[in-house]
Amino acid sequence: QVVVLDYGGQYSQLIARRVRECGVFSELLPHHVGAAEVARRRPKGLILSGGPASVYADGAPRLEPELLQLGIPVLGICYGMQLLTTELGGEVQGAEVGEFGRSKLTVKEPGRLLAGLPLEQTCWMSHRDTVFAPPPGFTALASSTESPVAALESVERGIYGIQFHPEVVHTPYGQDIITRFLEEICGCARTWSASSVIDDQLARIREQVGGGRVICALSGGVDSSVAALLVHRAIGDQLTCVFVDHGLMRKNEGEQVITAFRDHYKVPLVAVDAEERFLNRLRGVTEPEQKRKAIGDEFIRVFEEESAKLAEGGARFLVQGTLYSDVIESGGGTGAATIKSHHNVGGLPDDLQFELVEPLRALFKDEVRAVGAELGLPERLVWRQPFPGPGLAIRVVGGEATRARLDTLRDADAILQDEIRRAGLYRELWQSFCVLPDVRTVGVQGDERTYGYVVVIRAVTSDDAMTADWARLPYDLLEQIASRMINEIREVNRVVLDITSKPPGTIEWE
Ligand code: XMP
Repeated sequence: QVVVLDYGGQYSQLIARRVRECGVFSELLPHHVGAAEVARRRPKGLILSGGPASVYADGAPRLEPELLQLGIPVLGICYGMQLLTTELGGEVQGAEVGEFGRSKLTVKEPGRLLAGLPLEQTCWMSHRDTVFAPPPGFTALASSTESPVAALESVERGIYGIQFHPEVVHTPYGQDIITRFLEEICGCARTWSASSVIDDQLARIREQVGGGRVICALSGGVDSSVAALLVHRAIGDQLTCVFVDHGLMRKNEGEQVITAFRDHYKVPLVAVDAEERFLNRLRGVTEPEQKRKAIGDEFIRVFEEESAKLAEGGARFLVQGTLYSDVIESGGGTGAATIKSHHNVGGLPDDLQFELVEPLRALFKDEVRAVGAELGLPERLVWRQPFPGPGLAIRVVGGEATRARLDTLRDADAILQDEIRRAGLYRELWQSFCVLPDVRTVGVQGDERTYGYVVVIRAVTSDDAMTADWARLPYDLLEQIASRMINEIREVNRVVLDITSKPPGTIEWE
């Protein structure tokens, strides 16, 4: 594997992903973990990421000299290269003008790192400080408009640096450079793939749980589905999945999950029809956070009851679909994971007495999808858009989530999903859904006055839900969706489109 040390750059995760795309396992660790922690992983190479600091600023992250004595090749990117340069006696200075965005890279001496690549290429820059002279014994390989030294190396010492960002798509030869570093310089083999992950995880899961009983809260989302299938493949019927149907799912969603897991994959599944319980609990609740809390609490109660019913006084292990991005966010994978309640169905609390089984802890979302596909999960589940734990309750906004209003929303949502899929846009959109405000408007249908509900269409593009842009859906598609909703759903007589990005809006309305 290869370790990527994170100096706080906005593209650090992307570096780790690019390395994995070359078939090499990579871990992203915070820069302060220490050389011993890096050495313990016995990596074949080390990459130092970019970062927002200036090497001269007080408190700027430093380079631990021991990192250069691990006997493995090191590649510094942006701030990483500047750190290497100052540490080894080269010259870094703040420049008058920064260099942001596309830049022209001129290779003077390809050296080992840039061998075989075009001598003129485009690269993506994002820096103010600049390397003016490489450390003694190093060769300057390339320059760009504002950077006299945009790439450098010392083959003898196994140290390489580039000022530009090879991990972003705007550097067309970036992936080639990463591949050269991994294959030619570090001698890494392409051994990391969805199937190698599966084999590895099957062994680990068996080792962890032995003959113990395992329980999994299945929501039908990608993460819990892939985690459940993986665990089932490892230990078979020692696993029981619990699917709590809180009545806040989309149309036919519950049945689809039950059919897929119980009938198709033969996974022992307890399906709890808890609609009545949840709707009773939600009676009179209109404030969004109270809705979330009520649903979360009820979910835990149902889940506890079900797990207690299992043989031998319950299960000892709980499967969680924690992803690598959650691990990184909560401290970088060196300590135990703190799981954000937001990310889990209903947010199971820590004091539930279970030992966690987290087979997806090392994977990014796209890798989870690849593993899911490899395990034979249908495309519909593999590519499912995110869906919030509290379900449609937080999309019946400004009022109470009654069964009647949920049914109206479900019908509208089913039409939207159907049309979006037909238009081939489902995968492109981060999320597409409907919101039902507690608002009625006057309309006219068949010469009669109507007084019906307004449905809001919300469709966004995003990479990680932190920011999002409203999707420019084609007018014809919008028209088709609106007219179907009004024609097919009695209670609806008006359809509007939400054109707010995040920020300032959030993706959901509540
Ligand atoms: P917002 O609305 O904050 O949503 O822009 C960001 C992402 O999180 C999802 N979301 C939730 N997921 N429980 C969840 O499991 C929740 O309470 C919740 N609220 C929002 C939302 O769908 C979007 O993908």
